[in-house]
Amino acid sequence: MKLIRRHLIWGALLSIAFGGLLLLMVGQFVDSRTPSLDLIPLDSVELIEDTLNLPLRKFEWQVQTPHPLQLKYPYPYPFLLNHPDKCEGPRGAPFLLMLVMTQPQDVGRRQAIRETWGNETLELGVIIRRLFVLGLPPPLFTKELHELLQEEDREHGDLLQVGFLDTYRNLTLKVLMGLEWMAQYCPDARYVLKVDSDVFLNPSFLVQQVLQPNGPPRPDFITGYIYKNTGPIRSPDYKWYMPPELYLQDTYPPYCGGPGYVLSGSLVLRILAVAQTLKVIYLEDVFVGLCLQQMGLEPIPPPPGSFLMFPLAYEHCVYHQLALVHGIQTQKLLQIWQDFQTVNKICPKA
Ligand SMILES: *[C@@H]1O[C@H](CO)[C@@H](O)[C@H](O)[C@H]1NC(C)=O
Ligand SMILES: *[C@@H]1O[C@H](CO)[C@@H](O)[C@H](O)[C@H]1NC(C)=O
Repeated sequence: MKLIRRHLIWGALLSIAFGGLLLLMVGQFVDSRTPSLDLIPLDSVELIEDTLNLPLRKFEWQVQTPHPLQLKYPYPYPFLLNHPDKCEGPRGAPFLLMLVMTQPQDVGRRQAIRETWGNETLELGVIIRRLFVLGLPPPLFTKELHELLQEEDREHGDLLQVGFLDTYRNLTLKVLMGLEWMAQYCPDARYVLKVDSDVFLNPSFLVQQVLQPNGPPRPDFITGYIYKNTGPIRSPDYKWYMPPELYLQDTYPPYCGGPGYVLSGSLVLRILAVAQTLKVIYLEDVFVGLCLQQMGLEPIPPPPGSFLMFPLAYEHCVYHQLALVHGIQTQKLLQIWQDFQTVNKICPKA
């Protein structure tokens, strides 16, 4: 009898201890995925809120455990390298703000872009500003890259580093934070180009033929290569897998292909406002399409064949009649650029 009682007491004590431990563990688990309120710098939340003039869903992450592919947004990711006065100058707001998506380690690629299509002073008569948007390198490389990036930024003043891990599945965060930067520091830019780094860009065609500086204002303008009649891939083995928990419908609305699209500054502000109200998926180009759909908008077709999503063999005259070619490696870009810039070649009139 005594023995049984002792067992019972031990059992009770043990279960209390275990229960407590379990509670602690659950508590930590919940903590790790939900930022506690006092971690959010309130002034930056207010800033975003002011800019967008919308209530943020800032507490949602405290009450739900989202799908692992759902991105944490809105969230005040800090700008770690920043150039608040990038768009200021005696000549006023830029005509075109280039937001170039790069990864922290892409040092050589960024330099090639500065010397080729990213050159701000190439296109006379319009103000162009360029920023490279990047996240944080993997923790293992943080230290080495930090110094390098600071030095690169001191020299060129064109890095916008945002405080989230730089991964493919976080790409939408990169784009949205680039757009938030524009809303906060460059809200009067006429147009914004979202562009990946592995492209060839023809700034002259983009500015003169696609954007047309002397044309009428187009507040809801967005163009690029338009994908239509596409839908989610449901097999997890694929790069572009989309779980039904994040997106239930069978089709995607029309959207501009991610390698490069251009939109009016006023549309950026509207897209950001809508983005606060949707589940943010990692397919950044589809996500922008979803925002457009919410507003009852669709992308506007560009001049035929001017945005190419796959590489095309270089030909001087052909490349002068298009805006963007995707899938051009660095060496190729530098090589193409030399010939592209030569002025003594005669092309048939388009
Ligand atoms: C940018 O273009 C201007 C004008 O063509 C040129 O003088 C300058 O050297 C270029 N800058 C770079 C970094 O290549
Ligand atoms: C995205 O960035 C956040 C913040 O740094 C990080 O916790 C998360 O693991 C990243 N997500 C993916 C899918 O890489």
